[in-house]
Amino acid sequence: ALGGAKLLGTVPPGRLLASKRPLPAAFQQPLKLPPVLAPTRTDATTDYYEITQKAAELDILPGARTTAWTYGGTFPGPTIVSKSGRRTVVRHTNELPRPVVVHLHGGHTPHDADGYPGDEILPAGGKPTMVMGGHPMPGKPVMGRRDYAYPMNQRAATLWYHDHRMGFTGASVWRGLAGFHLVHDDEEERLPLPRGDRDLPLMIADRSFDADGSFLYPSIDRTLEHMPGVHATHMNGVLGDVILVNGVPWPVHRVERLRYRLRLLNASNARNYRIALDPPPPGGKGMVQIGSDGGLLAAPIAHEGLDVAPAERFDVVVDFARYRPGTRVRLVNLLGSGRTREIMAFDVASSGRTPRDDSAVPARLSRVRVLDPAKAAVRRTFVLQQKSGRWRINGHEYEPGRPLARPKLGRLELWRFVTDFHHPIHLHLDAFQVVSRNGHGLGPSDHGWKDTMDLRPAEAAEVAVRFTDYAGNFVFHCHNLEHEDMAMMADFATE
Ligand code: C2O
Ligand code: CU
Repeated sequence: ALGGAKLLGTVPPGRLLASKRPLPAAFQQPLKLPPVLAPTRTDATTDYYEITQKAAELDILPGARTTAWTYGGTFPGPTIVSKSGRRTVVRHTNELPRPVVVHLHGGHTPHDADGYPGDEILPAGGKPTMVMGGHPMPGKPVMGRRDYAYPMNQRAATLWYHDHRMGFTGASVWRGLAGFHLVHDDEEERLPLPRGDRDLPLMIADRSFDADGSFLYPSIDRTLEHMPGVHATHMNGVLGDVILVNGVPWPVHRVERLRYRLRLLNASNARNYRIALDPPPPGGKGMVQIGSDGGLLAAPIAHEGLDVAPAERFDVVVDFARYRPGTRVRLVNLLGSGRTREIMAFDVASSGRTPRDDSAVPARLSRVRVLDPAKAAVRRTFVLQQKSGRWRINGHEYEPGRPLARPKLGRLELWRFVTDFHHPIHLHLDAFQVVSRNGHGLGPSDHGWKDTMDLRPAEAAEVAVRFTDYAGNFVFHCHNLEHEDMAMMADFATE
């Protein structure tokens, strides 16, 4: 059944979309950090935020303006910072010309706030999105605005929020609808990790640009506004030829000879990265991973480089004191070629004096309870495959409202994924732990609590997951956004 694997090989998916204007030079523009959103109101239990989704003109390329779809006028959107245990309510108002849906990726969120693809916020006069066959999408569309209430009953982690509209997630995120949502907790705050301006959220996303400076995307939604889909020639995934970090093309950031925490997020639609430092520091292993999608690891792991698939987050500490003053350290993508091999650069301060570093990476970071796969009460297998021009799970293209699984809350399950292509599989509601990859132990990117894991051609992986707290309908899907829009998604209903 997986005979296609040999033909496809191990080349990551996607088709490069060439920009229609000259590309800017690398390492010219300073890194920007997204603004941190201030609550409009707080009370004993809850912080309230407001975001208006609207078109905005951004300065991304020299000499051009980019019309983007934004959360509050910036790309990335503003960073929301929550404290674990404190409710966070975000009121999203839609002033864009299309329906939107907001998903908090990595959020342990009840169904009604999770951004189910049919729970749209419609623009004035807008109609709900139809699914193939012309039926309205199941869900609860609302006009104008929606309050998303997040219990934040979860540990410290780097989360992100992005659009999740049925059939148009790829186009909407590409146009700019993505932002960070960080969760802090006491356990993490007690650690001496780098903080303040040495804790850098880095949203890595490739884009291509049209002649007028706007984001170029091969979407069909200009002609078929209410029917999902991406142009069929790009159904493997859309790759851009410009690498943006926090919305800046190939930025440069000046650092002291100190430790920095880099919260790496791959917010690209379809691009895989193998991220490494170039040059590596003397002695190598310059990227010390302290966290994954679901927060801190039990203990740090030093890496030479890291494979980061779409939607994955890796929290790493880099000690720039290992470099000589004045070194330019590039963050490179070993899977890219030419311009897409570069991501950004860090310029290590050239003063000979080394400042004292008050940070450290403790040998023990967190208590992580390891799920025991032998105790799993239920085993399920999901085969991810393409058939007749649609991406499918167990032979089905996405049928909203038809769950492929009905997990009982609180019960440990073992989910096995089998594939013939690259698919970063993502589960809503709860993080999981990878148990095995191809019958062996974990791959280097598989440690800790994950909510997204990359499957490669002809791979099978098992993950242990326990869904908790919230009964209802959720989705799991491939996070290659073009695969997702081309139906590689399914509902599961917790009960
Ligand atoms: Cu980041 Cu269902 O998505
Ligand atoms: Cu996929």
